[in-house]
Amino acid sequence: MANIIQLQNVDSTNCYLRALQEKEEQEEGTVVAAYEQTAGRGQRGNTWEAEPGKNLTFSMIFHPQEIQAADQFIISQLVSTAIKEVLDKYIPEVSIKWPNDIYCQDKKIGGILIENDLSGYEVFQSIIGIGINVNQELFLSNAPNPVSMTQVTKQQYDLDKLLKEFASQIYINYFDVLDGAEHEIKEIYKNSLYRGKGMHAYEDDNGAFLGEFVKTEPTGHLVLRDSEGIIRRYAFKEVRFV
Ligand code: BTN
Repeated sequence: MANIIQLQNVDSTNCYLRALQEKEEQEEGTVVAAYEQTAGRGQRGNTWEAEPGKNLTFSMIFHPQEIQAADQFIISQLVSTAIKEVLDKYIPEVSIKWPNDIYCQDKKIGGILIENDLSGYEVFQSIIGIGINVNQELFLSNAPNPVSMTQVTKQQYDLDKLLKEFASQIYINYFDVLDGAEHEIKEIYKNSLYRGKGMHAYEDDNGAFLGEFVKTEPTGHLVLRDSEGIIRRYAFKEVRFV
């Protein structure tokens, strides 16, 4: 396993790790973790709520030049399946909500913010930010449906131990993909999807509809078949679960 840099306070571990890499080349899988983030960033420009000292907020860096820009969704898949694999040891009913929210039953227990820098057709740098709700008992922000591990099991967890487990599993999945396990990771991802089977209610700019999961594409697009048998293809943010 590579380096773990543990910080007390930082604006965002993604921003800190990017600045560190700009100063000096970081080893594959270097981790920056923070006890407290003062400006934790979520997807869609949202902030990420995490009570100091109660949760995991960390970022990892890789330089996956072997991964083509058009296939970059494999990074999301290898990270989200690694997180699910670790969480499965502690809590029930963990799934991945496309593209990469981590769910426990119908609530969000973790989020991933991946920032890929491309060079031509390749991903030359990937900064992977991860927030896992661990020991927080109460959520105050307007995030729609947060939940923590402790809310699910009524137990407290050792953050350092968990951090090492998550980081190691991501590291393993990353090198497995580089060694050719892309197909296996994609299968695990597909079988881990929240509402991955059956018809479910969705909403796009044209309104609500019923659809079933068909596949995700290497670019990350979601392909659904609606109740009339029509195939619909969506980029992130173009469709929502109802
Ligand atoms: C989401 O909105 O679902 C993604 C949340 C990602 C939060 C993590 S916490 C560690 C890293 N640093 C950040 O500023 N954001 C990510």
